[in-house]
Amino acid sequence: MRLEDLMERAAKYDENLARDIKDYVHGRRYGLVYEASKPEFVRMWKKPVVRGDIVNILPPRGVMEDTKNDDDPSEIVYKVISISNGVATLRNEKTDETVTASVDDIVALARFDKPIYAGLKETGRVERGGDKPYHVVINGENYHALQTLVYAYQGQVDCIYIDPPYNTGATDWKYNNNYVGKDDKYRHSKWLTFMEDRLRLAKKLLNPKDSVLIVTIDEKEYLRLGLLLEQLFPEADIQMVSSAINGKGVSRDSEFFRVNEYIFFVKIGDCLFSELSLPDEWLGNIKTSTTKQVRWGSLMRSGTGADRKDSPGCFYPIFISKDKKEFRGAGEVIPIGVDRSTARIPDDVIAIFPIHDDGTEGRWQYSRDKFLELQAKGYARISTYTKKDATIRYISEGWQKRVERGEIEVIGKGPDGSLIFNDEEYDQKYIPGNQWWINTHDATEFGSKLVQKIIGKRFSFPKSLYAVHDTLRFFVNNKPNALVVDFFGGSGTTLHAVNLLNAEDCGQRKCILVTNNEISEDEEISLTAQGLRPTDEKWDDLGIARYVTWPRTVCSIEGQDIKGKPLKGDYGRPIETYQEYEGEIIDPVTGKKKRKKLFEKVKRPFYPELADHKMSDGFRENAIFFDLEYLEPSVVNADLAFDRIAPILWLAGGCKGEILQRQKGYVIGETYAVLFDPRYKTRFVDAVLENKEIKTSFIVTDAAERYRSLCAELPGCRVMQLYESYLRSFEINAIG
Ligand SMILES: C[S@@+](CC[C@H](N)C(=O)[O-])C[C@H]1O[C@@H](n2cnc3c(N)ncnc32)[C@H](O)[C@@H]1O
Repeated sequence: MRLEDLMERAAKYDENLARDIKDYVHGRRYGLVYEASKPEFVRMWKKPVVRGDIVNILPPRGVMEDTKNDDDPSEIVYKVISISNGVATLRNEKTDETVTASVDDIVALARFDKPIYAGLKETGRVERGGDKPYHVVINGENYHALQTLVYAYQGQVDCIYIDPPYNTGATDWKYNNNYVGKDDKYRHSKWLTFMEDRLRLAKKLLNPKDSVLIVTIDEKEYLRLGLLLEQLFPEADIQMVSSAINGKGVSRDSEFFRVNEYIFFVKIGDCLFSELSLPDEWLGNIKTSTTKQVRWGSLMRSGTGADRKDSPGCFYPIFISKDKKEFRGAGEVIPIGVDRSTARIPDDVIAIFPIHDDGTEGRWQYSRDKFLELQAKGYARISTYTKKDATIRYISEGWQKRVERGEIEVIGKGPDGSLIFNDEEYDQKYIPGNQWWINTHDATEFGSKLVQKIIGKRFSFPKSLYAVHDTLRFFVNNKPNALVVDFFGGSGTTLHAVNLLNAEDCGQRKCILVTNNEISEDEEISLTAQGLRPTDEKWDDLGIARYVTWPRTVCSIEGQDIKGKPLKGDYGRPIETYQEYEGEIIDPVTGKKKRKKLFEKVKRPFYPELADHKMSDGFRENAIFFDLEYLEPSVVNADLAFDRIAPILWLAGGCKGEILQRQKGYVIGETYAVLFDPRYKTRFVDAVLENKEIKTSFIVTDAAERYRSLCAELPGCRVMQLYESYLRSFEINAIG
């Protein structure tokens, strides 16, 4: 490496200087460099304050917190030394000064570098889906909700779709309890810290073998987000699409009107997107159209890097039988500088070398060993259609994966061992381009107005239902049981879109939404003036999760608006288009009537098949609403918080059936089971083994040996030790 060479040379003159340079260079981060903000914290409004907590002192009721000042009170952190008769003695973490405050006026903080232990409390449910799994809406801080989900679903999520705050400079998001405004010098660093912490957890959720992360963003942060994603997901394929979401445009000071936003697709493992039959409106976007027919490409490389010298290991003869029907292995690689005529070729074969049409030496796509491996699997074939002796063809890795997943039917093998596919059915599917301009992706028409129609309330910046539906569909169309997570749930569009996808193909996809119960800045001012604070019912009822997300979820499933009236319209998405008709006009010259082709504006459904799905039909789905709560580890360890942990176990069990509550001895559910008392072990093991649907078991025990022996007795079942696995999971997932 050039840098190493330079340092070696420098060391000849001054070793210390060379070492200093080396330390400096190696200590630097390349790529996205930003000053990570100190560990974020959030207020745990509902947590009873106990000794040892770190807290903020709140301003008196009726007084707004001055969060825009440098000596912002929310930045002043105290530790609780003692509590007596409702009064807490507190020590200022910075100055060591001791003060007292009423416990009613302090709020506990969760710092992201310290573990918290989360629990869930059910606050509502809607059930129209029979025995389908439930969707889940969690009201809480997403950083902690993600930790909870990591406990239940590490490596199991198929798709994460998020629409985070765009950091526009308007007071549209909070960091450490403060709105991040335009003048905040650290606003990009804060946003990056905020995103990085959450995306690190999101990565743990995603299935490393095959999943996708989808993140929407606009022009304010797309560059930084792109770099952050590249840094966090170095092994993934990342692509960005530009999507028009507001055809009329939003004005920007001395800038072009903004009509679009961006969508990052981070494809992990073998993730492939489905080629779909798309409505006409996508036609303008099509870059490539493909068919189900498998493409056999030339094994000889063309284009750049296609000469022998470019990859010496890929120059060797491939042997085929004299009748050109069978493969007969391959000769050794011929090193650069050695004439190919010197290659040893058995008498009974034809040797095929990678030679370009102009006679120059080319190279194969793969090394000799890799070629032999592919050939043995049937992915290479001998083609004799050309004027040459024979050419060697192969199918690309994308097609190989589809074959391996069973997406393409194999109906036989040719004499050369190559697979024969069932690709007679010519099913035209489209891969759209990376510039989407789809009318029904308009956020105002099919986002804001839809939310307003359902719950009669406003919500800033919901996505178009159809934009989310179409985006997800590329990735979960072939996964009818997909698990989709959105941890910036907002008004709940993603869950609604998953319901629409399920309605189309009777799927059982499950959506987990997380969103906090933030209220707008204006509401905050008004409610504070009324002497209210978070945790007061009137305040909490206005928060997004309770005021928007949950009501929308219930109403859209029930098919009625918030007042109980059936929702009007259908999901076929009307689009305006021009239709030709034969009309009559008066000829201006002759004054006579004459027939002419005319055009009229008509509305027609975008997806005609969805036009039959009336919004008032709602959806055959179940959903449940939880508040995220914070638990004391000592209470958990003493087995006193089971009611709050029970929903987490139910999540891990697959969100089906009853949430299991404590029972004497043990309890067996539809998909999971819990052993509370080891004396019931034998009966428990028998019951679990008898029920094939039970894939997860929990055992409440401190004894590691007991846990291990249960694992051995329940092969094929995921066994988790309580509360050890639960506590450990939160400890591991705190930063650092
Ligand atoms: C831009 S909105 C998402 C809108 C959503 N896609 C829709 O169509 O309605 C972002 C949402 O994330 C929520 N949010 C922001 N920070 C959060 C956090 N730390 N934890 C949980 N939710 C958060 C906000 O309350 C807001 O509702």
